[in-house]
Amino acid sequence: MDSLEWDEAWSVGDARLDDQHKGLIGLINRLGSGAPVPIVLDELQIYVDEHFRDEERMMEAAGYPDIAAHKLQHAAFEEWLEASRQASRSGEVVGLLRDSISSYLKTWLVTHIMVSDKAYSGYLN
Ligand SMILES: [Fe+2]
Repeated sequence: MDSLEWDEAWSVGDARLDDQHKGLIGLINRLGSGAPVPIVLDELQIYVDEHFRDEERMMEAAGYPDIAAHKLQHAAFEEWLEASRQASRSGEVVGLLRDSISSYLKTWLVTHIMVSDKAYSGYLN
């Protein structure tokens, strides 16, 4: 798999949140280069627990008007992650699971980070 590279155009204007988004790209690349699926899912859980809460705090502090809809997207991701972790524990075929996780995360990058996260960036600072 070609590895993904961070593009400055995806910046939300906050170094901490950008670093976290870069971390997600790193996880997608590790998944693509064969890192064990359960380990990537564990790291994804740690990532989400920290990153979604940081982002939601920043949006609240900035008075971002679409925060409720944004939180729903985060909740949907968390549900997907829980289902993926269960699939991984129940011995789902690893290759299939790896592909489906990878495509979900790439779609998330395009639809959430590049659209929904960019939408709040103008409200920060
Ligand atoms: Fe977000």
